[in-house]
Amino acid sequence: MLPALHLPAVHTADSLAAIVADWRASGYSVGFVPTMGALHEGHIALVLKALELADRVVVSIFVNPTQFAPNEDLDRYPRTLEADSALLAAAGCHLLYAPEVEEIYPDGFATTIEVAGPALGLESDARPHFFSGVATVVARLLGQVRPDIAVFGEKDYQQLLVVRQIVADLALPVKIIAGETVRETDGLALSSRNRYLAPQERMQAGRLNVILRDLANALEDGEPLGAALAHARTLAGNVFDAVDYVEVRDALTLAALPAGRLDRPARVLAAVRAGSTRLIDNMSAKPG
Ligand code: PAF
Repeated sequence: MLPALHLPAVHTADSLAAIVADWRASGYSVGFVPTMGALHEGHIALVLKALELADRVVVSIFVNPTQFAPNEDLDRYPRTLEADSALLAAAGCHLLYAPEVEEIYPDGFATTIEVAGPALGLESDARPHFFSGVATVVARLLGQVRPDIAVFGEKDYQQLLVVRQIVADLALPVKIIAGETVRETDGLALSSRNRYLAPQERMQAGRLNVILRDLANALEDGEPLGAALAHARTLAGNVFDAVDYVEVRDALTLAALPAGRLDRPARVLAAVRAGSTRLIDNMSAKPG
């Protein structure tokens, strides 16, 4: 039997900074993938992308309390540190940063980043607290890791645009790289929350990407946005227990689009519920 691979791990920003400083002194570039753990192949694809672009890669695992509302799943969010560490070691990640809450939000922490622009609407309508929590923790983690590049998944497309916005607005010295969504064989986007799905809900969940793909295809074939969207919303309403949104937005800004034929690169996005599990997905649609 092969010996288990061991991944170095640090839990404080000071230990992290010391290792990153050693890497810098050796002339290595640094890549970073922030996560909340419960890792799956989608996260590993982000790590592999970071490894292609940087000499050394740090992955953080931190279940960020400020991006969960009191009624959300912070307490039951899956925590699988040992399994995560083994997956990261096998992928070739160089360092795990797994801080405690006090390392991210020490006593006296008094800053919250509020983002407008791409943070408005969509996820924010259902989860108004969410992007300020994400923006604040991402800025803090980027400040602690100080990477050259950081990789964020397109699965959370609005989050990716919000992160690009704060990096631009706060002039943070890091390049944000988008990682493609990894899917199951039926197209369901991988997500740490998929493990909550009961078998019947798992079958429901597999329909989301089909509805979005059909919507994107219809738009690319020249169908007017208003009609294509109405059809997709009806389908989603028939399949899922609740539909938070099905939308088509400008791919760069997430601004609303006119109801006619697609005239610019767009993104189709949806959030639905299968049982009590909230699923999000998105894909691109280009004008024909
Ligand atoms: O996408 C996630 O897992 C989280 O929102 C992130 C970016 C790690 C911030 O907590």
